[in-house]
Amino acid sequence: MSDLGVPDLAYWSGPGGEQWARNQEYGDRQFAPVAEALFKIATVRASERVVDIGCGCGTTTIALARMVGRQGRVLGIDVSAAMLALARNRAPQGAPVEFVRADATNYAFPRGAFDLLFSRHGVMFFAEPVRAFANLRTALAPGGRLAFSCFRAPRDNPWAMTPLQAAYRFVPPLPKLGPEDPGPFSFADETRVRRILGAAGFADIALQPVDLEFDLAVGRGLDAAVANVVELGPTSRAVQGQSAEIRAKVAAAMRETLAPHVKGETVQLGAAVWLVTAHNPES
Ligand SMILES: C[S@@+](CC[C@H](N)C(=O)[O-])C[C@H]1O[C@@H](n2cnc3c(N)ncnc32)[C@H](O)[C@@H]1O
Repeated sequence: MSDLGVPDLAYWSGPGGEQWARNQEYGDRQFAPVAEALFKIATVRASERVVDIGCGCGTTTIALARMVGRQGRVLGIDVSAAMLALARNRAPQGAPVEFVRADATNYAFPRGAFDLLFSRHGVMFFAEPVRAFANLRTALAPGGRLAFSCFRAPRDNPWAMTPLQAAYRFVPPLPKLGPEDPGPFSFADETRVRRILGAAGFADIALQPVDLEFDLAVGRGLDAAVANVVELGPTSRAVQGQSAEIRAKVAAAMRETLAPHVKGETVQLGAAVWLVTAHNPES
């Protein structure tokens, strides 16, 4: 069983996915710098066949479809019915995309049918990551590529931790996750990522650290930033189920905490990610 504090499979296939679907525009604008960096490193070519792992509301899936063109193919896989419904609606008519609701850990991918496994922050929630990546690798042709993004350590991600610390003045801390538990920071440790991908059979594993800025306000000012952080991300999980009175106290503390980060209509805090690449061996 999941509670809202732990973003595991039950969270994503249930209330977490619904929450993300409701906040699609905000989530996408916040994660836009990640997509930009990841597309550069993934070097997607025309006619390629791509899997978008944990594709969510389909933003990167649709962008990938534009890159591969009509001769290519993009399969978006996710466990959330709510996010996939939105993804299907947003995909332009005739785009070479297909969406499937399934757990990437055990979905029977057509063997060797894809050139690229891609994911913007959709691979850190696997309960059995080695099994999941080994299964995903069966979808890749020999020599096929893997390219995904994930967060580095919480202390390097003030966009998440600064608001969360403000909320902790009024709400209990989120459940402490063990080093092998799924969660947004479960791929922070380079050694662990290398161990998982190596055990799943990938070669040429490389992790590139990239430092970005997340605009918590998505260009809409301090009030929007305060509203946004209690709607999506770690702080939203910490305040879930709290009374209106506590939520109001959290919002006031958040305003005070975020005010020094206001620049024009933006509220920018640092985000530290890994861009991870690897290959399926040729034979
Ligand atoms: C942080 S969201 C990222 C969504 C999307 N990639 C994006 O960039 O907007 C993580 C996504 O991974 C999906 N996910 C988590 N575990 C999964 C699994 N085992 N199989 C497929 N999708 C999964 C969630 O449902 C969610 O959509």
